[in-house]
Amino acid sequence: MTSKKRGKIIAIEGIDGSGKTTVSTEIYSFLSSKGVPIYYSFEPTYTKIGSIIHRFLRGEIPLDSHSQALLFAADRLEHLSREIIPYIKQGKNVILDRYVHSSYAYQGALLNDLKWIMTINKFALAPDLAIYIDVPPSVAIRRIRKKGRSNISVYESVRFLGRVRNIYKSFVKKGELIEIDGTKEKDQVVKSALAIVCKSLKIKLL
Ligand code: TYD
Repeated sequence: MTSKKRGKIIAIEGIDGSGKTTVSTEIYSFLSSKGVPIYYSFEPTYTKIGSIIHRFLRGEIPLDSHSQALLFAADRLEHLSREIIPYIKQGKNVILDRYVHSSYAYQGALLNDLKWIMTINKFALAPDLAIYIDVPPSVAIRRIRKKGRSNISVYESVRFLGRVRNIYKSFVKKGELIEIDGTKEKDQVVKSALAIVCKSLKIKLL
């Protein structure tokens, strides 16, 4: 029996306005255009649990801080069992716009109890590769305002994002995240991230 090689979980992380959605979708488009088996997804999802989170983020419903952390963790487990694991088992790589380090950074900043956040996320598979796009919160907020986005999330303030950034940076120090400079030109940021992904997938496309 031939067993298919398991695909990889690649996470793109960063504070709101860091450009992670652009980077993850461009990496996805580039790799799929080259015939690399890849699937794109994001968190929070739009499943039943994810939809509650989205309503909270839009300010439509209140949610206790610990419930927020538990819902993000539950949304992730549903995402894993319904989508991510079946795809990687088929040999597809999965690129994710936010994954477990978003909970460490955001809920860690909110609750000041990283240990508990890590405990409730312990059933989530570790990513094979996680890239962190670094931008100062002031730059990120300016970008969000410039876009004129109406759905500013409850987490978007310079002070809060500064704390989120510090936690992300602590995971860079630990070697769990690879940092790239998100203040550079968009094409350059995408290129840096793509080079790291290609190296991890052991493919030569650039
Ligand atoms: P996202 O959809 O990436 O926002 P945007 O596209 O506006 O950048 O994420 C929505 C918000 O959810 C974002 O403020 C970060 C937050 N979030 C957490 O707090 N914890 C988590 O585990 C995840 C996945 C997201």
